[in-house]
Amino acid sequence: MSLRKLDIFSDLTAGFESGVNPYRDLLAAAHDLPLVSGPALREKRGAWRRFIAQHHPDFQIETAPLLLEIGCHNGGTLRELARTVPHGACLGIDMTFKRAVKTAQKAVESQLPNMWSILGNAAQLPQLFSPGELDGIVAFFPDPWNQKRHQKKNRLFSASFCQALYQMLREGGFFWVKTDDEDYHGEIVAAVQAFGGKPSLVPMPFVEKKQQYISTFERKFRAQKLPIYESFWVKLP
Ligand SMILES: C[S@@+](CC[C@H](N)C(=O)[O-])C[C@H]1O[C@@H](n2cnc3c(N)ncnc32)[C@H](O)[C@@H]1O
Repeated sequence: MSLRKLDIFSDLTAGFESGVNPYRDLLAAAHDLPLVSGPALREKRGAWRRFIAQHHPDFQIETAPLLLEIGCHNGGTLRELARTVPHGACLGIDMTFKRAVKTAQKAVESQLPNMWSILGNAAQLPQLFSPGELDGIVAFFPDPWNQKRHQKKNRLFSASFCQALYQMLREGGFFWVKTDDEDYHGEIVAAVQAFGGKPSLVPMPFVEKKQQYISTFERKFRAQKLPIYESFWVKLP
């Protein structure tokens, strides 16, 4: 069974037998990991900042940036973000038990009180974040679904999803995409540009861009000398 189809607010461990996937069992048992999933996500929409401040006393509710990485894999990029934005909070969502747990374990190992993992299908993000709640969204190398047996319709970053992400950003917030797939990059650019024809998203350099945040997949593609397509937008008033 895939987590893709499950309601993000349901107990995702329930449908999976224990003793089969060690990360499912870790998730079911380890309540002290910085990992939010299932029913615990229910009241987070619009309340992430309060939740974070309860666990991270230095977090300034009104002003500290709240960043989200979609498809955070094993948490490597999220950890770099959390290190370079210590005054903010970094959330990463991924859809497998292993990756969500590994991300949370990285936060613990690295003693980063500003890093959390979320388990679930990112397609359901509009149920987790209210309009303007986020200061930045990072999506590096989303699954391209470009083989024949796959269908492009499985791509997460559809026009409607990009628009929903845009709504979750506050003014001044950023959306940063990297992919090895030129076609998918073009689709995302077109989607972002098409928001009602309003010039509300324009590419701008990210203040921390000198910090490269090379993800696991970027490292692989660079080693193969493959091209990488990247866009960065800031939401203007
Ligand atoms: C190709 S990997 C890229 C991982 C990482 N961002 C990087 O650049 O190294 C895509 C990641 O997105 C996750 N993913 C794919 N579809 C997802 C979805 N709908 N919701 C949450 N995570 C998803 C996968 O589990 C995987 O970790």
